[in-house]
Order: sequence, then structure tokens, then C-alpha cells
Amino acid sequence: MNKREFLQTFTASSLGLAIEAKTPKNLDNAQFPIDETQFWNEIRKNYRLKPDYINLENGYYSFIPQSTLEAFVENVREINFQASYYMRTRQFDDKNEAKSELADLIGCSPDELIITRNTTESLDTVIAGIEWKAGDEAVMAMQDYGAMLDMFRLQEKRHGIVNKIISIPNHPKSDEEIVDLYANAITSKTRLLMVCHMVNITGQILPIKKICEMAHQRGVEVMVDGAHAFAHIQFKISDLGCDYYGSSLHKWLSVPLGAGILYVKKDKIAKLWQMYGDMGYAQDDIRKLNHTGTHPVHTDLTIKHAIAYYKKLGAERKEHRLRFLQEYWTKKVRHHPNIVVNTPIESHRACGIANVGIKHIKAGDLAKILLEKYKIWTVAIDYANVQGCRITPNIYTTTEELDVLVKALKELAS
Ligand SMILES: Cc1ncc(COP(=O)(O)O)c(C=O)c1O
Repeated sequence: MNKREFLQTFTASSLGLAIEAKTPKNLDNAQFPIDETQFWNEIRKNYRLKPDYINLENGYYSFIPQSTLEAFVENVREINFQASYYMRTRQFDDKNEAKSELADLIGCSPDELIITRNTTESLDTVIAGIEWKAGDEAVMAMQDYGAMLDMFRLQEKRHGIVNKIISIPNHPKSDEEIVDLYANAITSKTRLLMVCHMVNITGQILPIKKICEMAHQRGVEVMVDGAHAFAHIQFKISDLGCDYYGSSLHKWLSVPLGAGILYVKKDKIAKLWQMYGDMGYAQDDIRKLNHTGTHPVHTDLTIKHAIAYYKKLGAERKEHRLRFLQEYWTKKVRHHPNIVVNTPIESHRACGIANVGIKHIKAGDLAKILLEKYKIWTVAIDYANVQGCRITPNIYTTTEELDVLVKALKELAS
């Protein structure tokens, strides 16, 4: 397929409900330059963008392109039409099909994966499912997500576990520096290490494989918070070697709100307690962890549409585009004396997300000024070692929009 043919597959009409019908092969970047304006302009047309502001806060929720939205609405209609008949006859088969596609995408067996409602549910299922004993230790970072840190605090209160909290530098000198930080927090009592694949407040990508190898050598299990990594950067679970992995599909896979995944390595399933009682499955069957009651199945049903869209984009192309956008703007401000970029410069340590602060402006004030004066929507981060706004473009973002950000930052910094 040549460039023109590929672009033609992305016309608005071809991205309609028929999206699942044909999924063209990915093209490599040599064929398709990463800043190929025409291609991304076509993609942009498939998003309904609010004219009031430039949306640079896609980290919370990568809202869905119109074609996925249409498929979702059609799914809502269909479920409402079939009602309990659907729930009793098709629901579980359809969810299984979506699960198999997800397992294929993330590189694990479908027997090791469940579809949850979000990362919080996925990771809390693990944290709450471990049979903790007083004095057991867990290792995590202060840059981790608040909900998970709170869940560990709850185990501290309930079971008397000890949480060891490290701090991740924003600009590590090497992978080993990060690995050593985690290694130094491990003792003979450590049972679980939680680590972000991509730190949500800075976008920093952590060396998961090396951390897993180090922890396993010390007999410690690793749970990876992949809320921002799945369908953002390319990886396979089998390459990481972790024991547990959770992600939200409404982030980078652009599934409608309310879907996530939990991976549990096959031999770790049996010993996990389920959060909601389900006694109908064998102890080592991952489905025992997935009894969430009645939930919006039309979201689950739309997963396959989102996967088809992602495959049409191409995982490699998407990752390159997101990294290109981040580096496009960070390069222009990184060396300004009053601007602090809280995200590593090395390409392999970050992708689409970055964080920027201005020395004399508080993060909250910066977010407010960016919105009110420059019509740029971001989110302020002001904890741990990060004071700045998290900037998260998406695939539809243009370099012209990022130029507005760069201009604003330079004006405010001067
Ligand atoms: C690193 C990280 N973990 C977990 C979560 C929680 O995701 P959710 O609210 O979809 O459960 C987030 C949300 O932004 C996150 O950034």
C-alpha cells in the first residue's frame, strides 16, 4: 500500500462503523515521515475539538475519535434494544473476544488478563488481594498515582504492613540509578514493588525490565502501573517480565470511559484473594478476580473498534508521532534559564507526556494563566519533586498549537 492509498483509508467515511472490516498493515516510518502533515491533518478531522481552548490535557482521558464514538453510540442503542437478552446470551462471549484481542496486543495469554473498569480497579485488586502479614514491606515511589499510594496506606492501617517510599529523579543519569533506588529500598521483608511504566506527572518512562530482573533476584514481585503506557509506547508484557500489570483503556487506546486491563502472571493467580466474592471459578482462574457485577457493557463492546483504529494508525507510527510532538516543544524551551522541563531529554525516557514549570510562577497559577490568557488547557502538578504543568498532546495536536504553548512559556518566563 502506498502513501496515497493509506491516506485514503483515513477519509472520514472510511473511518465510520466499517472500521472493523479491514485493518491495513502498518507502514514503517521510513515510508512515512513522523511529521507527515497531510496524514495527521486527516486524523485531526476525525476528532471533534472544542474551539475554546487548545487541549493539552489528553493524559486524563484520550477522548475518542468520531468513528469510535459512532460505533459506541450504536453499541449503546443495540444493548438498549436487546436488553437482558444480550446480557444473558452474548455479554460474556463478546467480552472474551475483546479480551483475546487485548491479550494479543499486549503480549500475554488471555488466561492471564481481565477487562476491568480502570487502572485503579486493576491495581487495587492486586494490592488488596495479597495476603499481607504485619511487618511485610512494599516499595513504591512518591511520584506514583495517589489512589494506589492510598491503597497501600490502607493495607498499612489494616494489616500493619510497612510502605517504603522512594523518590524518582526527574533527570536520571542512567537506568542503574533508578534500579539502585528501588534495590536499596528492598529488605528481606519486602513482598511487592510497585513501579510506574510511565510516571504520570512527568511522563518519564522507567526501565521496567531491569527493575523486574533486580526485584526477582531478591524474591520480590513487581506490579507495574501502566496507566499511561499501553497503546502509547510499544511493548509486550513478555518483554517486561513483571508479575502484575494494570492499565486504563480510556487513556491511550481511546476506548470510551470506563475500561481497563489487569494482567496477572499465570502462577500468581491462585494466591490472590478476589476483591468481590466469586466462588464459581478455580483458584487459579483469573476470572475469579473479575466479578464486577452489572456494568456498562457497551464500553467493553467498543474495545474492538478502538483496537482497529489503533492498528490502522500503527503502533509504531503513533508512538513516533507522540514523541515527535513532545520533543518539538520541549526542545524549544528546555534550555531557557527560567523554564524548567521536568521530563528527561533522552528519547527513550519519555514519549508524548512532559511537564514544564516556570521558576517564579506556581504550578496552579501557570495553569490558570495558560488557560485564561493563552487558551491552553493543561493540568497543574505540585507535589514530590514536580512543580509545573503536565503537557499532554494527542495525535491530533498540531505543531502550530504547540507553537502557541512555546510562545506563552517564553513570554511568561521573561
Ligand atoms: C499513573 C496512573 N495510575 C493510575 C491512574 C488511575 O487511572 P484510572 O482513574 O483510569 O483508574 C492514573 C490516572 O491518571 C495514572 O496516571
